[in-house]
Amino acid sequence: MKTLKKAFIISFIFNFIALSLFGFLIYNKGGISYLADKAAQLPELVQRTWLNNSSKNTVSIPPVSEKPLNLTTIKLNTPEMDKGRPLMQVLKERKSERSYADQPLSLQDLSNLLWAADGITRADGRRTAPSARNMQQFDIYIVMKNGIYVYAPISNELIPIVEGDYRKNAGLDAYVAAAPVNLIYVADLAKLKGTTDENAKILLANLDVGFIAENVALFCTSEGFASVPRLSIDKDTLSKILKLRPEQKIILATTVGYRK
Ligand SMILES: Cc1cc2nc3c(=O)[nH]c(=O)nc-3n(C[C@H](O)[C@H](O)[C@H](O)COP(=O)(O)O)c2cc1C
Repeated sequence: MKTLKKAFIISFIFNFIALSLFGFLIYNKGGISYLADKAAQLPELVQRTWLNNSSKNTVSIPPVSEKPLNLTTIKLNTPEMDKGRPLMQVLKERKSERSYADQPLSLQDLSNLLWAADGITRADGRRTAPSARNMQQFDIYIVMKNGIYVYAPISNELIPIVEGDYRKNAGLDAYVAAAPVNLIYVADLAKLKGTTDENAKILLANLDVGFIAENVALFCTSEGFASVPRLSIDKDTLSKILKLRPEQKIILATTVGYRK
């Protein structure tokens, strides 16, 4: 009994010291944001491995073998949190604009845009946009002049999907092909657990996408970019180009660019 008590006391002291040391190290390095930064460094390969689980914070993308050879993963910049104009002014000024300068978005602007859309804000992986039952079923595909990428929020990267200029396939309206960026919001219905009713899943996707699209609209207004949310998409053609699985549904798009 005495030995047991001694072992318990030694183990308690050891755990106390170890936990205090761990807490001190994390605190010293910047606390939760340090842990979040570390999580953000999870490599692309880990995200790809998680693909088949269709669970939160994973990116629903084709396997590595189908990765386009001539495009590489783009490491995004850390989003600039000190940006933005007063919210009430931005709300007053938000409008759909369909004319864009023929100029790609800078890496920093693209990084800020995607984080504003649906980036990670908390250590448990929650996002700038709310989602019903926190199911986080959306991936954002980015159609640009050189190819199509998917946003990987954990690693803060753009993962290439297809090489080539598919902007004319990103929507039915003429202005779409002239814009530097089209964001395509794709719901992975496999991530919507708790119901097998396809209509219920689509309804949830339709609700959730509004928050992401509004984040984008407000960010664009705040930054002085032009943007328009769009339903006019040839979903069948674009789904093939994006190599989507049957459970992945294109719900909405936003065209974005600098003002002319
Ligand atoms: C769900 C949704 C789908 C839309 N689809 C299109 C579209 O396919 N093409 C387009 O030019 N504008 C589209 N719009 C933009 C609307 O036409 C626009 O929001 C509306 O005219 C009001 O103008 P405002 O956004 O400047 O307030 C869409 C807007 C929403 C909310």
